[in-house]
Amino acid sequence: MIILAIDTSCDETSAAVTKGQMVIANVVYSQVLVHQKWGGVVPSLAKRGHEERIDWVIDSTLKKAKITKKDLDYVAVTYGPGLAIALEVGINKAKEIASEFDKKLIAVNHMEGHLYSSFVQNSRGNPKRDWQFPYLGLLVSGGHTELVLFSSHVEYQILGETRDDAAGESLDKAARMLGFGYPGGPVIEKLAKEAQNVDQYHFPRPMVKINNLEFSFSGLKTSFLYYLQKLSDQEKIKNLRFLASSYQEAVFDTLVYKTNQAIKKTGVKRMLMGGGVAVNARLRQKVRALVRTSGGSIYFPPFSYLNFDNAAMIGVAAYYRAKIGLIVQSADEFDRVPRLSLLQSTKN
Ligand code: KG4
Ligand code: ZN
Repeated sequence: MIILAIDTSCDETSAAVTKGQMVIANVVYSQVLVHQKWGGVVPSLAKRGHEERIDWVIDSTLKKAKITKKDLDYVAVTYGPGLAIALEVGINKAKEIASEFDKKLIAVNHMEGHLYSSFVQNSRGNPKRDWQFPYLGLLVSGGHTELVLFSSHVEYQILGETRDDAAGESLDKAARMLGFGYPGGPVIEKLAKEAQNVDQYHFPRPMVKINNLEFSFSGLKTSFLYYLQKLSDQEKIKNLRFLASSYQEAVFDTLVYKTNQAIKKTGVKRMLMGGGVAVNARLRQKVRALVRTSGGSIYFPPFSYLNFDNAAMIGVAAYYRAKIGLIVQSADEFDRVPRLSLLQSTKN
């Protein structure tokens, strides 16, 4: 089953050719340099960037995979969540290819793709893993923070998500307050490491006293801002590393606390992680420690399927949809507004 997958949900234009769980080719064109000077992703620039690059990205992927559009069995595309005007570029391209070459379309939820990044294999079918559902997924990216109960292929339930800022977004905003550009997560990680991840300032751990699996990071961002406003420029510079480190600890402790609650609530101890923040060594260390104390296990996908939004994970998710006939019946019914019903998912 050969799939051409496309993702244009945010600031990466990506196309992949997959065969089952195997990635034959995956091309990602990142717009990070375009958005860097604005301190975050600018939707209109993202749309234009996707329009300029999409054909090149698809053609390069097919060339790398040594196939043509005629050889495809399916065309898969991310339909949401993401920036509507950016998603549209990928969706329109997928529809165009599907109709010109008479291929079936598969619509994939972007977060489902992030869950499936753990299942991606290389073109030789490695790593080979024995998957034993259910899994608890912690998805942490620039746009989303979700705890997901992944009960079997294509079946999952969102246990909790953020009410406002995502974990990555909250790191990006803190970095900006400290005078750094986008993306801020890697900068915060580096500064925190230099401070040996010390929690000097004890910023709040939001929502931990509330008995649910929801997150909220905007209050933490505000306390950070108020704290910074009290410091002189000199004090800020002097304490930069400890400020970054304490902020990062607050975000990650909250993620770990809620993940622990989710383990207790569901009894599921096998974990998967996805999204750009999951490359962070400090977060991994904390999640590993949690998994160890709860007697569970965790698998981290390779950096190439975490660090950037990529179509490889979308192609693998699409494979499991295609296997059970979850294809788009008519291009007109294609809905780019995320509909959980289409995903057989429920939110409790
Ligand atoms: O998954 P992703 O590429 O995009 C979305 O789907 O949103 O994640 C991007 C996010 C950004 O907020 C970025 O700051 C964060 O991932 N990120 C990190 C690190 N590298 C990227 N956060 C913490 N530590 C990192 N090393
Ligand atoms: Zn993403």
